[in-house]
Amino acid sequence: MSGARSFDLAGWSTATLDRVESALSAWVAPETAEDDGHEAPAALREAMRYAVLDGGKRLRPLLVLAARAAVAGAEPADVARALDDAALRAACAVELIHAYSLVHDDMPCMDNDVLRRGKPTVHVRFGEAQALLAGDALQALAFELLTAEQASAPASVQARLCRLLARAAGCEGMAGGQAIDLASIGRSLSEDQLRDMHRLKTGALLQGSVMMGAACCDPQSSCSAQALQGLAAYGAALGLAFQVVDDILDVTADSATLGKTAGKDAAQDKPTYVSVLGLARSQAYAQELLGQALAALDGAGLADTRALRALADMVVNRST
Ligand code: IPE
Ligand code: IPE
Ligand code: MG
Ligand code: MG
Ligand code: MG
Repeated sequence: MSGARSFDLAGWSTATLDRVESALSAWVAPETAEDDGHEAPAALREAMRYAVLDGGKRLRPLLVLAARAAVAGAEPADVARALDDAALRAACAVELIHAYSLVHDDMPCMDNDVLRRGKPTVHVRFGEAQALLAGDALQALAFELLTAEQASAPASVQARLCRLLARAAGCEGMAGGQAIDLASIGRSLSEDQLRDMHRLKTGALLQGSVMMGAACCDPQSSCSAQALQGLAAYGAALGLAFQVVDDILDVTADSATLGKTAGKDAAQDKPTYVSVLGLARSQAYAQELLGQALAALDGAGLADTRALRALADMVVNRST
């Protein structure tokens, strides 16, 4: 077992996120030749960049790249380069989907929030129509990134990444969970119903991030069923834990710390872990899920899971 304690998460994250930030800034370009001097697409790009750049914990990209590191083997150098490129594309693609989900989540027709990542939300800054379009375009760009002309990974890896991301983002994942969330306002949910909602609206994209990283392995020697099963169980536990902690922080943290409006869930009468289980039981449940995530990694039979372990610890014990 590789201990999270001996792992320098801050150092690893800083180096890893340098690559992610430069790639996001290049791929969500301010202007391209295709705009051909048209002002409207250039303004839409500005809204997209505002939604994606300069903010956020970037947990999903970190999970993709930590999972890629866990499955990387003794591939020939050219294969390793292509798979590393696929993993960076996947890391950025999942962050684009996440950013789009936040833009839409904040709109007046959903959570009606004015603060995100310490800044006015996209619809407040650019208007509702532009926020809607920025979300649409970010989603499309995510899939373009995975299959770009310049992508060097085998076509089978590119297709698998698209499939994983589409499932995690769609009706059986994030969008479906958001639909349940909106339909649950003012209703009291059972613990099972709440768990299902959180697994979809938040857990699916986090688990998807882990599985996308795992998909960036050599098709010739592919990842073992045991490793994939362990990583899937890790992603499921961590994904649920993430939203349990989000529900807790909505109650225990302030808006300045969170960079988004605290206390919104109770104000909007949303069922959350805190409203269903209470604060203390929610905190205990988050720790229990951390234990499940780490146990799943122990059973995965992977050589180096230090970054994944440290990220799970960060998710559950974070303050923002
Ligand atoms: C917030 O996600 C929305 C949820 C899924 C709970 P994050 O807390 O990961 O938001 P950023 O990316 O750090 O802003
Ligand atoms: C949002 O959940 C999950 C998404 C799919 C965006 P929340 O509505 O709880 O996220 P915050 O608290 O606004 O970040
Ligand atoms: Mg919401
Ligand atoms: Mg919200
Ligand atoms: Mg929340």
